[in-house]
Amino acid sequence: MQLFQETNAPIIETVNLHKIYRLGKTDVFALQGIDLKITETKIIGITGPSGAGKSTLLYIIGGLEAPTAGSVLCYGTSLENLSFKELAYYRRNIVGFIFQFHNLDPTLTVNENIQLPMIFNGISREKRLKRVKELLSEFNLQHLINRPVTTLSAGEQQRIGICVAVANNPTLLLADEPTGELDSKNVELVKEMLKAVNEDFGTTILLVSHDKNVLDISHHIITLKDGKLLNT
Ligand SMILES: Nc1ncnc2c1ncn2[C@@H]1O[C@H](COP(=O)(O)OP(=O)(O)OP(=O)(O)O)[C@@H](O)[C@H]1O
Ligand SMILES: [Mg+2]
Repeated sequence: MQLFQETNAPIIETVNLHKIYRLGKTDVFALQGIDLKITETKIIGITGPSGAGKSTLLYIIGGLEAPTAGSVLCYGTSLENLSFKELAYYRRNIVGFIFQFHNLDPTLTVNENIQLPMIFNGISREKRLKRVKELLSEFNLQHLINRPVTTLSAGEQQRIGICVAVANNPTLLLADEPTGELDSKNVELVKEMLKAVNEDFGTTILLVSHDKNVLDISHHIITLKDGKLLNT
């Protein structure tokens, strides 16, 4: 697809982004004018108190929600101008998501879970299996390939969740509290994995966390408060 080819424009830019949630008669001002420019392949940490708008920002950048006002541009292309098909392409190929709880299909094996986003993307069976093996060996998880995901530990599930998120080699990985449910050993393993995704695959990562120890893999940290950016 011609869209989202690397250009001199920022990888991601948000312009005066606003999000208002209407809850009955009250308005919740989740984002109040976010201007953010990501020009290099980096890990950007996002922190701030609960309710500051961190998840909202990730969902809007990921094309899962539309802003109330303002825009998100990826390599200069504004998401609001995309057709339904183009937006689906963006969600599937340009961004990958990791959440606090893994988002694996419990009825499938590790191999099948990692293949799933590639099946949606029309990748051939042979190439899918090659990519699964490549990802699992990059992260020393080869031994898990045929395991039903229900038999994995929480840490293993989260690491396989990262493999699923990067299966289609996204430009941007959006991670919302990816270590929130993990013990300290698994926190370190997930941090190492995110660093490797950034360094070896050239993926830009937006990493939301409250944990300073987790954020120390970031090249740059931004803080949100009351839907506003405190520093850039
Ligand atoms: N679907 C929704 N409907 C109404 N209000 C919402 C909705 N989603 C989020 N909000 C509100 O928007 C504000 C920002 O929420 P958001 O989830 O982005 O915060 P957060 O920074 O991710 O917080 P946390 O650290 O607790 O995850 C909060 O006041 C929240 O209650
Ligand atoms: Mg959140």
